[in-house]
Amino acid sequence: MNVKTTKTKPKREVTREISSDDDKVLDLALRPTSFKEYIGQAKTKENLSILIGAAAKRRESLEHILIHGPSGLGKTTLAYIIAKEFGAGIRITSGTALEKAGDIGSILTGLSNGDFLFIDEVHRLNKAVEETLYPAMENYCLDIIIGKGNSAKTLQVKLPRFTLIAATTRISLLTNPFRARFGAQYKLDYYSLEEMTEILKRSARLLRIDVTPGAFVSLAKSARATPRIANRLLKRVRDYAQVHNIDKISEGVVQKTLGMLDIDETGLDATDRKILLVIQNNFNGGPVGLKSVAAAIAEEEDTIEDVYEPYLMQIGFISRTARGRVITEPGKAHIGAALTKNKQGTLV
Ligand code: ADE
Repeated sequence: MNVKTTKTKPKREVTREISSDDDKVLDLALRPTSFKEYIGQAKTKENLSILIGAAAKRRESLEHILIHGPSGLGKTTLAYIIAKEFGAGIRITSGTALEKAGDIGSILTGLSNGDFLFIDEVHRLNKAVEETLYPAMENYCLDIIIGKGNSAKTLQVKLPRFTLIAATTRISLLTNPFRARFGAQYKLDYYSLEEMTEILKRSARLLRIDVTPGAFVSLAKSARATPRIANRLLKRVRDYAQVHNIDKISEGVVQKTLGMLDIDETGLDATDRKILLVIQNNFNGGPVGLKSVAAAIAEEEDTIEDVYEPYLMQIGFISRTARGRVITEPGKAHIGAALTKNKQGTLV
């Protein structure tokens, strides 16, 4: 049964608007729009191409897709590419924007057959919204409960055959029944130095900036193996060069800019170094719980877990044990060297 929905303007915006803010416009300009342009993540691209090719041949909609991995590695970009390669529309929202079952209901009923719905930060969905998604994902129907208590009735609304693409930095927070509903699951990995250099070269070409090979390598090394950070650093380096009337970006320009941003040669910023220092000095190298680290550096636990820890673990500066975080020997050596460089003996 198809129930009519009246199209009223939602009071809260639950799908994302494209901002005209300068950096965001540039981010969009740099975003690859096809698998061919997308550098790295070879395995995921290959698997996705097969998934898309097979579904297109069978003239079926795609199975639901879950993409996980640290932030800034290109999950949203991949979602746009999937929709484009499939020749379908996409709507973008996030786990934090969907507060009520009705929020997801109004988005789903507004989709067309074959459309994609992208939910970023899907681990932040609340239970009511997650459970509304179950029948939608499985049977393309929406269960609407009308009334309360004994007189409550369930009305089923038929939905278009859509594909959900969900992204998360925290796969472990998803419930098993939710995870089980994604036919295809991919993990994005940190990028190699070569891939980071290629991404920077492509971005510099698009932004029409002249950069020396050495400067590309310096930038690539300081970008935490993360394209979003690489592009951000490239833009800051461009600003520095522009203000100082420099035509070609050299390694020296990169070093100056990174110094002003408090980013060291491994890509760590002041907060990363504070985390290492606190574990080492305040907690004797660990193990220490996340709460204690967060309190000591006055940072949100979620930010530490989502933004800082994944890369510190990736480069082997901290490790996570059952009893908490521990600083490793290379981590100790890094802050030791940073403290030696800084004559005041502080890291900030
Ligand atoms: N810009 C951001 N991520 C990228 C990627 N993976 N390939 C090419 N350009 C990018």
